[in-house]
Amino acid sequence: MRIAVVGATGLVGDTMLRVLEERVAPKIPIELFPMATRRSAGKSITFFGREYRVLDVEEGIPEVDFALFSAGSHAARAYAPVFVSKGAVVIDNSSAYRMDERVPLVVPQVNPQDAHEHQGIIANPNCSTIQMVIFLKPLLDAFGIEEVNVVTFQAVSGAGYRGIFALEAEEDGGFYDHTPFAKRIHRNVIPQIGDFREGYSTEEWKMINETRKILHADIPVNPTAVRVPVKVGHSEAVHVLLDSAPPIEDVYKVLRDFPGLILLGEDYITPMDVEGRDEVFVGRLRFHPDNPRLLSAWVVADNLRRGAATNAVEILQLLSGV
Ligand SMILES: NC(=O)c1ccc[n+]([C@@H]2O[C@H](COP(=O)([O-])OP(=O)(O)OC[C@H]3O[C@@H](n4cnc5c(N)ncnc54)[C@H](OP(=O)(O)O)[C@@H]3O)[C@@H](O)[C@H]2O)c1
Repeated sequence: MRIAVVGATGLVGDTMLRVLEERVAPKIPIELFPMATRRSAGKSITFFGREYRVLDVEEGIPEVDFALFSAGSHAARAYAPVFVSKGAVVIDNSSAYRMDERVPLVVPQVNPQDAHEHQGIIANPNCSTIQMVIFLKPLLDAFGIEEVNVVTFQAVSGAGYRGIFALEAEEDGGFYDHTPFAKRIHRNVIPQIGDFREGYSTEEWKMINETRKILHADIPVNPTAVRVPVKVGHSEAVHVLLDSAPPIEDVYKVLRDFPGLILLGEDYITPMDVEGRDEVFVGRLRFHPDNPRLLSAWVVADNLRRGAATNAVEILQLLSGV
């Protein structure tokens, strides 16, 4: 199978290579095309025991079966259609195509059927949305959902290498000039991810709109997205108003049965514990004492794997049957 990874030198791109090594390369020979900008062209990377040189995407687009993009919206808009015109299926991690009606937005455990409707491009949802919808989907199917309130605690790696560099520079007493954050992040929390529009940040709008598209349900989602000085792993305090008031045992059962979700019950886990894992961890599960329909949980996942790379590779596996 011929696979291009565009953005191969980035945090998500590198993680996609590792997930491909684990899940796909042992099953089928891969001819890999690691791609990035001129800045990284010629750099050496290792994949499944072999050395490759990074290619400049501007120098030419190869014919491949799949192109996994994690190179930002600008690159996705410029190059994804060219890959498609050469016969590839593109799976894109950026926000460029997520809300495009012709492009399926897919979390394989949640809406796998949508993936088959593609016209060449499939979008990978935003990292915070992926882990939240994996928690919401079994609840929606079993009990119905009236409304969702969520506060996120998002790792700096969600902003790519620049996010990590900013935190590390500040930890060392300095400052990174290209910080992606609006304020200092070390010893701080920032309730802003992206720009504000009508009171909600870009990240919050993504959670509002993408959740509806993935779940095919008009659920009001009310998010506050917060950047925290954690390197890897997004956490979310999610409050779900269900349509019905089931016994907690029934909630446990539907969550436990859902693929890729690990139920911790009243216990909890922290982002440091989930680094390198592909599952979504759901803990601190409880109904409010005054409202038997109001369910709360603490939902944690590795943003680079579950929230990006693993989701993209699972879409490739879903379509290729590998
Ligand atoms: N980090 C996360 O948790 C996360 C989660 C979900 C989605 N995403 C999305 O995934 C994408 C990448 O994120 P990241 O965290 O991996 O960022 P990153 O660490 O900054 O890496 C960016 C990668 O994109 C490449 N690139 C940038 N502009 C390009 C262009 N015009 N043409 C070709 N390659 C280009 C860079 O290549 P050079 O080395 O040549 O600069 C680098 O390989 C973004 O769209 C982001 O929104 C990230």
